[in-house]
Amino acid sequence: MPKDYSPFTPGRPVPAQQFVGRATEVERLRRATAAAVATGRVQVAFLEGERGIGKSSLASLIQAIAGRDPRMLGIHSFLGGVSSLEDMAQRIFDRLLQESAGQSWHERIKALFGDHVKQVGLFGVSMTFAAPRRDLKQLVHHFAPALRNLLAALREQHRGILLVLDDINGLADSAAFANWFKSFVDEVATAREPLPVCILLVGLQERRYSLAALQPSLTRVLDPIEIRPWPALETREFFSSAFAKAGCSVEPDALEILVSFAGGLPVLAHEIGDAVFQADTNDTIDTDDAMNGVFAAADIVGRKHLEPRVFQAIRSDRYRSILQTLAAPFEFQFKRSDLLPPLGADEARVFDSFLRRMKELGVIQADPDGGRGGYRFDNRIHHLYICIEMRAAMGRRGRVTAGGPGT
Ligand SMILES: Nc1ncnc2c1ncn2[C@@H]1O[C@H](COP(=O)(O)OP(=O)(O)O)[C@@H](O)[C@H]1O
Ligand SMILES: [Mg+2]
Repeated sequence: MPKDYSPFTPGRPVPAQQFVGRATEVERLRRATAAAVATGRVQVAFLEGERGIGKSSLASLIQAIAGRDPRMLGIHSFLGGVSSLEDMAQRIFDRLLQESAGQSWHERIKALFGDHVKQVGLFGVSMTFAAPRRDLKQLVHHFAPALRNLLAALREQHRGILLVLDDINGLADSAAFANWFKSFVDEVATAREPLPVCILLVGLQERRYSLAALQPSLTRVLDPIEIRPWPALETREFFSSAFAKAGCSVEPDALEILVSFAGGLPVLAHEIGDAVFQADTNDTIDTDDAMNGVFAAADIVGRKHLEPRVFQAIRSDRYRSILQTLAAPFEFQFKRSDLLPPLGADEARVFDSFLRRMKELGVIQADPDGGRGGYRFDNRIHHLYICIEMRAAMGRRGRVTAGGPGT
């Protein structure tokens, strides 16, 4: 029977109390926000890392911290799918309106936005910020003065602004955004009046490269903060404390299985943890629970986090059966010759066809450092997913019972 509670939060930024690790990055960002307030000068950082590594969660945590001290107004705006500056402005101010709901300063925001606040939903229970195109253009053009006015209106509650522009995929390819951002930063830096604002851009590393290519002087503005996979120690801490919170104990061998399959990727750790938690019946996680949970998680991860074409290809009977014959597990970077199925020419052909298909789908790419037949995975979700599939296929054949992807 499904449990109605889980200490895991797959698919949602993690609540601050359950946030694990990232101490160095938290400290750097805390300093950047404090510096914005102390100097009245804009601070910019670029939070980068692959999908599911915890960028949005870290940004939320910083928003919570900076909101308490030094009392910054946080606006965490998700800009996935946005490619124009006007849409960006609309999303930012709409988010501000949403975040003001229930706060003492809500009425001030409403007064500032005037008729641009529209009641929506059944009985007008929710609100949105809706402005005509030409007003949005003005907002973009006079972004610094708009933020100054905002702070002036909220000065009793807030001493600065933390603006998180998350998932900037569409904007990072736009020369208009790159130029606008550069002018905004220059304008604030040279203005006589202070503007205590910290801007956090969030996205894949490629997006930072793309912005720097479009506007080379952004290279020195965009201070990169890279989020990496958790070290094993932190992944262990994550699982132990989440299970402990739900009153479950985890046997040491079982814990190692969870740690090794999660590969330090928080998104996978939550999916695996949740599946294991749901499968357990006696509040004790042993190695059987761990392996069963990992296999159950594979299904969920495949459907939820992989592109359907990739999922279908890996799940096809032809490739699934070749995965269980490989000579070794996949490493993140691997050589064809190290994995080549030990059996015969037929298997080798299917394996090569698998590699070609995965390359076409962008799951792996030729690894320039790996020499001939060297490949690397495009991201960790793909790599770990394939490891789990391999293990599941082997498990079904009774070849293994427990152990991590690399065993
Ligand atoms: N430091 C962390 N501690 C615990 N869980 C985390 C942490 N960072 C991320 N997560 C979890 O991992 C998943 C992916 O995190 P998210 O912040 O959305 O990643 P990204 O924005 O990089 O794609 C979410 O379910 C989130 O709850
Ligand atoms: Mg995110």
